[in-house]
Amino acid sequence: MLRYPTTLTGWARCAALLSVIALLFVGCAPNTPQDPLNPAGPFARQPDQLWNLTFWIAVVIFFVVEGAIVFALVKFRHRPGRKAAQFHGNTRLEVVLTAVPALILAGLAVPTVRTVFTLGSNPSGTMPLTVVAHQFWWEFSYPDHGIKTANEMHIPTGTTVRLRLEGAATDPVTGGAEVIHSFWVPRLAGTQDIVPGHVNYLLMEADSPGVYLGQCKEYCGLSHANMRIRVIAHTRDDFEQWVADQQAPAVTSELAAEGAALFAGEAGDLSQPCAACHSVDSSLDAQPAIGPNLTHFASRDTFAGATFENNEANLRAWLADPSAVKPGATMPDLGLTRDQIDALVEYLQTLE
Ligand code: CUA
Repeated sequence: MLRYPTTLTGWARCAALLSVIALLFVGCAPNTPQDPLNPAGPFARQPDQLWNLTFWIAVVIFFVVEGAIVFALVKFRHRPGRKAAQFHGNTRLEVVLTAVPALILAGLAVPTVRTVFTLGSNPSGTMPLTVVAHQFWWEFSYPDHGIKTANEMHIPTGTTVRLRLEGAATDPVTGGAEVIHSFWVPRLAGTQDIVPGHVNYLLMEADSPGVYLGQCKEYCGLSHANMRIRVIAHTRDDFEQWVADQQAPAVTSELAAEGAALFAGEAGDLSQPCAACHSVDSSLDAQPAIGPNLTHFASRDTFAGATFENNEANLRAWLADPSAVKPGATMPDLGLTRDQIDALVEYLQTLE
């Protein structure tokens, strides 16, 4: 007959066992878009291969050591009448036990150092891309193409992209220092901190077209979890087309003119116009980035740190009260009326 635990200890053991089982099942997730063990480019594959090598060496060592312990426990266990051997030290054994791990570590150091240097190198022919981390969104600049975008990064496949990771100098609201963020798109590259006032570099490349998800990996405030990244890898031709679309001026319709005027501060009585923080000029010398560059906003799948799907309902909720949907968001609640939100949504959705 099945017996249920009747004491607290019984339940505690049961809970501990279930937790372990639940943890094990986490490894069975069928959809893991941010799994570094499923690399999709050379700069994610190299550390993965290094990890595999280290892991299997560790597995062999584990079984050799544990096997020796079990063997000794069984073979030399207490038996009536048998007295344990009494001795102290064994120089030859100690030399072997020191030399073998040292040799293994020295051997592992070769691929490790090689990988570290490869990942830190500056190969020729890379595409430069500047990443600036803000609370809580990403600014992407393409110096070779003269364009700027936010949160969704587009790259060509088979091309090494060299990310220049810059920490924004100051927080646009408090004027104080920005905080540390960390850029991580696990399937395409390792992770690198973005430190205010410093520049770090990271190599990234995608083998094939697709969308690769990532996020900020350093706790940076209330909406750290909402500071996500989407990398969209295109074939060379598609990428060139995307660049051309981004370089072209955004199309606006007459319907959206009211929203455009509101945005620019030419109409309405907002405490500050949207244009005080957001640029609709995608060139690199566009006004300083306090908020994401919105030039081709409608061509993006997501917004607000790649957190929300870019649709009318989400946009309305966001404009009505940013902090309500993204805690700690720097964008203020402008107290927009329903009509003003109508006009702004109309305008933003024409920014193809
Ligand atoms: Cu930015 Cu966490």
